[in-house]
Amino acid sequence: MEKKNNSKQLSIMKPNIIEINHKDQYNFDENSIQDFFTGSIIFITGSTGFLGKALLEKLLRSCKKISIIYILLRSKNGQTIQQRLEKLMDNLIFDRIKFEYPDCFTKVIPINGDISQVKLGLSENDYCLLFEKVNIVFHCAATVGFNEPFKTAINQNVGGTKQVIDLCLKMFNLKSFVYVSTAYSNSNIFEIDEKIYPTKIKPEFILDVCKNFDDEIVNFLANKLQDKHPNTYTLTKNFAENLINNYKDKLPIAIVRPSIISGAVQEPFPGWVDNFIGATGVMAQVGVGLAKSIFGEENKIVDLIPIDIVVNTLICASWNNIIQPSNKIQVYNCVSGPFNPLRWKRCHKLTAKYAIESPSKHVVLYPGTIFTSNRLLHNIIVFFCHYVVAFMLDLLDMCQRQKPRMLKLVKRNERMQNAYDFFKCNEFYFHGKNMKQLVEKVQITKNHMIFNIDAEKFDWDQNICNCMLGINKFLFKENTDNLKITKNYLNK
Ligand SMILES: NC(=O)c1ccc[n+]([C@@H]2O[C@H](COP(=O)([O-])OP(=O)(O)OC[C@H]3O[C@@H](n4cnc5c(N)ncnc54)[C@H](OP(=O)(O)O)[C@@H]3O)[C@@H](O)[C@H]2O)c1
Repeated sequence: MEKKNNSKQLSIMKPNIIEINHKDQYNFDENSIQDFFTGSIIFITGSTGFLGKALLEKLLRSCKKISIIYILLRSKNGQTIQQRLEKLMDNLIFDRIKFEYPDCFTKVIPINGDISQVKLGLSENDYCLLFEKVNIVFHCAATVGFNEPFKTAINQNVGGTKQVIDLCLKMFNLKSFVYVSTAYSNSNIFEIDEKIYPTKIKPEFILDVCKNFDDEIVNFLANKLQDKHPNTYTLTKNFAENLINNYKDKLPIAIVRPSIISGAVQEPFPGWVDNFIGATGVMAQVGVGLAKSIFGEENKIVDLIPIDIVVNTLICASWNNIIQPSNKIQVYNCVSGPFNPLRWKRCHKLTAKYAIESPSKHVVLYPGTIFTSNRLLHNIIVFFCHYVVAFMLDLLDMCQRQKPRMLKLVKRNERMQNAYDFFKCNEFYFHGKNMKQLVEKVQITKNHMIFNIDAEKFDWDQNICNCMLGINKFLFKENTDNLKITKNYLNK
């Protein structure tokens, strides 16, 4: 099936736009998602991130017959891509496959590149190698900072996506391309269907403006476009979806839109998390007693979606691109709201409960917290219980000739919480018909137990309990088997 060419020939060949609707050309058992990946050559962007590394781990663990996984890596903080690969493989997430399937890492091949560069910053050889070999693409890389300058966010999230698409257009054997968007790519509206909502101006135009005009003009335009979007991140993800939509007739594309990704239900370990960003960050603050007040509307839904459900959805969406070929892009709202709603009130109560039941060694104050929509009350609590306490703890540290760090930490936490105010005070109604249909389809495959994507079928109580333990274990690197010791510490 694979076309064999050498690099010289490749550079003079015309890009081969695949004809979609030809699932018959692929010879695999349609009832097996694992079979779809047999022999495949995959390209992943963003594999050092929270979602990307969970996707990489799951593909290696559950689709053992994959041939090769190319991962796009950039040198960063003085580390070469080889050093970054080694560091990535040292991550606790890979402990399970290191034990179960130690040889699998030979399949992972790093490719030096950067999504913000022309042709992804790839060498000519690597570019050719990818379009000759790869048949499945997952594009996860993005800048996820809420308040990145507009130009940066456009270059990375829209420009980067354009570079990935250009590469896909050249691929000889592309079977499936999955783009990771966000459920909040349309957060200027509150009822969100599984479709692409048009932007006011074309993404190509905005890319041109960012390339050719100075910051003053770009920012002027950005203000006009911002509309009711809370930040540049959601706006640029909306642009990226629109850009992708232009290729619906040319590429087999699915868009997966996760809401706020949270700790794992089950895989690779219950409660697995990787960073202090988003909901996990707030939970960690509650856990160590540094969030005495959280601002928001407690009766609104907090749309968390566990990481393993998101990862499995990416894999199943990729498979479904071939099972149900279409000239329309399949969009999946990968959310919990319509299926298994969790409200802030319950979320915050469970977080506080398990912060006490499974305390961290890093606890600073007893983990009690209130959730309020009263800004004045919130500010008063924050001032006295966060800033004054942090100031006093810093003074204590300085008296003991230690470096003060609490005030800095509290300020950072506050900034992070404020960035989420919009999402804590608003509720979105997400449609989930495509997601539901995918759940039903996967249900009748041979591998439905391996690729759980059903957000209805887990218990938030258990998940939040595991997440609090996961924060202690995977983020604070504590030994969670020894809970008795930390409980004693908390009770002092
Ligand atoms: N986390 C969530 O709650 C959430 C929710 C909805 C949607 N999403 C989407 O999920 C995707 C992954 O998010 P995440 O939470 O995993 O973010 P993350 O942890 O910040 O990871 C971002 C990844 O993108 C890579 N990246 C960023 N800029 C790059 C560049 N110029 N060139 C190459 N790689 C670059 C990063 O690589 P480096 O290590 O080199 O920086 C990293 O691997 C994003 O598309 C995001 O929009 C996330």
